[in-house]
Amino acid sequence: MSKTSNHTVNRQELSRQKWYWWPLFPLYPYGIRKTVFKELVPNQIWSFEQLQGLYYVAVPVRLTVIKTLNGLMLINPLPPTDELLDILHSLEDKHGPVVSIVLPTASGLEHKISMPAMARAFPKALLWVCPGQWSFPLAMPLALLGFPVNRTRRIFNDGLPESQSCEWISLGPLDIGLGRFQEISCFHKPTGSLIVTDALIGIQDKPPELFDYDPTPILFHARDSGDQPLVDTPLLRKKGWARLVLFSSFLKPDKLSIPPVGIILKNSFRPGLRNLKAHFGIYPFVWAKDWETSTAKLIGKNRPLLQIAPVLERLVFPRAKDEFLRWLDTLSKLKGMRRVIPAHFSAPIDFNSRICRDFRRKISLSNWAKSDGNWIFLDSVDKSLLKKGVVPQDPLRAFRD
Ligand SMILES: [Fe+2]
Repeated sequence: MSKTSNHTVNRQELSRQKWYWWPLFPLYPYGIRKTVFKELVPNQIWSFEQLQGLYYVAVPVRLTVIKTLNGLMLINPLPPTDELLDILHSLEDKHGPVVSIVLPTASGLEHKISMPAMARAFPKALLWVCPGQWSFPLAMPLALLGFPVNRTRRIFNDGLPESQSCEWISLGPLDIGLGRFQEISCFHKPTGSLIVTDALIGIQDKPPELFDYDPTPILFHARDSGDQPLVDTPLLRKKGWARLVLFSSFLKPDKLSIPPVGIILKNSFRPGLRNLKAHFGIYPFVWAKDWETSTAKLIGKNRPLLQIAPVLERLVFPRAKDEFLRWLDTLSKLKGMRRVIPAHFSAPIDFNSRICRDFRRKISLSNWAKSDGNWIFLDSVDKSLLKKGVVPQDPLRAFRD
């Protein structure tokens, strides 16, 4: 048995969390994916969350399940572990079969990677995908990517999933060089719920429940040097979570520097830290004393702070602010909207026409595509891609995938 701070996990439980296809896109936590299940709207909408990330920078990724007139609709597929499937099957017993599986993003690899496995788990379901699917480094047709083409439909081109109860709203398409960015939001009218993929997120100071099962990533980042042990306290969990949010938002936050190799090695391989969990004490980060100041614009106190993810703003929409505002205009006209359920971080988040209009106003007045402070690294990536001609100057110009 392996033991975490709050939970004892036995072998049988671990085997139900196995994801065999992880080498296709080797993200942390690799072959073992714990699922946290929540009912978001009683008897109508449910959320399945797993962790996904790079090198201990892991954030929750979410599958949303909606009860429709014909059965269950899955939006933003996740790796279908036995644990996840058992819960889904018990929902089917109560609310009807899975009839549609929706991949509403053209570019989000972390969402599309599990679509073929999810399709095999529900062989009678219709698959709906955002148009303009692409793969990298090899451009491959959907059939070769494992999509059963005889039951795969493109949203808008071939119709709409569950159109009696859902409205589908496109953000994009934008030309992002390697392919297109587009995501199609689902507005579920009976519950006033808007389901998005990456376009909006909400982050709060309390670490996500998934870290209760294994807090290692947040405790890892809560330290100040590699020779410190991983200590588990509520305060250190919050500290590590805040740093992890800065990493995932800016990739290289302004208040973070990489120490010389000599210092990293001096602090490594200390007694008690010679294990994989502590990465053998290798901790190549130094945080400036005032690192916490920049979290105020990202992390809400006791409630999720609504925002566009910095990576999306600076790397996908730097020259397409108007398209983002147009999308928000469309959303603000949706009647009866009450909440948004994104595919990352917290959900649900309060979201109605008034909040949407206020948010739009804030974005419209904001300094977009920033290049200072925390934005320096993302700005340098964008400028370099633009200079090399990888991304176009005008992402909204007509393009071919
Ligand atoms: Fe995503």
